Amino acid sequence: MLEGKNIILGITGGIAAYKSAMLLRLLVKAGAQVQVVITPNGKEFITPVTLSALSGRPVISEFFTANSGEWHSHVDLGLWADAMIVAPATASTLAKMATGVADNMLVTTYLSSKCPVFVAPAMDLDMMAHPSTTRNLATLRADGVRIIEAASGELASHLTGKGRMEEPEKIVAVLDAFFDGCGSRRLEGRKVLISAGPTRERIDPVRYIGNFSTGKMGYAIARRAAAEGAEVTLVSGPVGISIDDPAVKVVAVESAREMLAACEDAFADADIAIMAAAVADYAPAECAGRKIKREHCDFDEIKLVKNPDIAATLGSRKRPGQILVGFALETDNAAEHAAEKLVRKHLDMIVVNSLADAGAGFGTDTNKISIQYADGRPDGIFDLKSKDEVAADIIDAITRL
Ligand code: C5P
Repeated sequence: MLEGKNIILGITGGIAAYKSAMLLRLLVKAGAQVQVVITPNGKEFITPVTLSALSGRPVISEFFTANSGEWHSHVDLGLWADAMIVAPATASTLAKMATGVADNMLVTTYLSSKCPVFVAPAMDLDMMAHPSTTRNLATLRADGVRIIEAASGELASHLTGKGRMEEPEKIVAVLDAFFDGCGSRRLEGRKVLISAGPTRERIDPVRYIGNFSTGKMGYAIARRAAAEGAEVTLVSGPVGISIDDPAVKVVAVESAREMLAACEDAFADADIAIMAAAVADYAPAECAGRKIKREHCDFDEIKLVKNPDIAATLGSRKRPGQILVGFALETDNAAEHAAEKLVRKHLDMIVVNSLADAGAGFGTDTNKISIQYADGRPDGIFDLKSKDEVAADIIDAITRL
């Protein structure tokens, strides 16, 4: 989808700037024309020679070319671009973008741009967690900038935490999915409800029953549905990821009962509901008001009650024309279990994945699915793909219904 696209790659002064060379290489390989705009500090981390060789264009950093006095028009650049991506985006550049401090070519270009803008923050974990950075990111988000969240891992400071610039391959995948979604807006005007992540069922104020779901698949579906024009309500259990799309309303819940209430609310006027959450099957009959002390309690004796089945509840209330999609994550006999759920929960379509398949399931960035349909059309069988690509396949299958 990046073929022929004009992309401004903004590079700022962070250690992660070395990854920008790879990002540039991947963008060019995907067929994009890339104009690098680098801050004066950025040049301390990666040389314009490398970047101009990879992009095939002179790198822009100053307002004027020193020798000729030629003016670099940030206005023209801003109009030329189909997208702008600032990677790495340092705390300082994020602050300047959020407040309009246009003292370099990169921020000036940002302020002149008419295209979608993405930022991939990269900084030390304490800078990342600082209220000032949080505030600036919130401002940028509200201004419509799409944040490609920093990942967690080892940082340049040798500390470990959130602050690593997202990998170039993932940034390219985000841009690719964005342009892909722009091309086909098959869900324009549709309201889509998505459940995602795990639920937590409280035992006492410090303990809960939960599962390993990370929400990645559900969030990928939400991004894709929004990119295709849908108005999305994402009912999410506790996860460590976020979504930055004005078309996605996130309703954060904790327990299965809270998830049911939020889903019932949104289902009333939804056209499509996709149940991707891993809902805990049982909850403690009661949550202790205080921390249960080991000395006073035998944990073998926690009484459990069955949680509501959200998908089945919605299935029993489905209006004609509403589409309900479920998931079946199985360890064995996946196809048979899924077929039974399809009928019992009144689903129109069920996405089946098996923990027996390498690369499928919780926490991975990939998935391998098959799809069963209630109307008897043949099953869809798919290869192992990134969760973004799987999300595209799922949305594609839904639009065919
Ligand atoms: O029965 P099982 O948990 O395998 O069913 C999986 C499907 O049902 C998923 O779509 C899941 O989101 C949904 N589900 C639900 N509420 C539950 C259990 C599962 O919505 N309590």
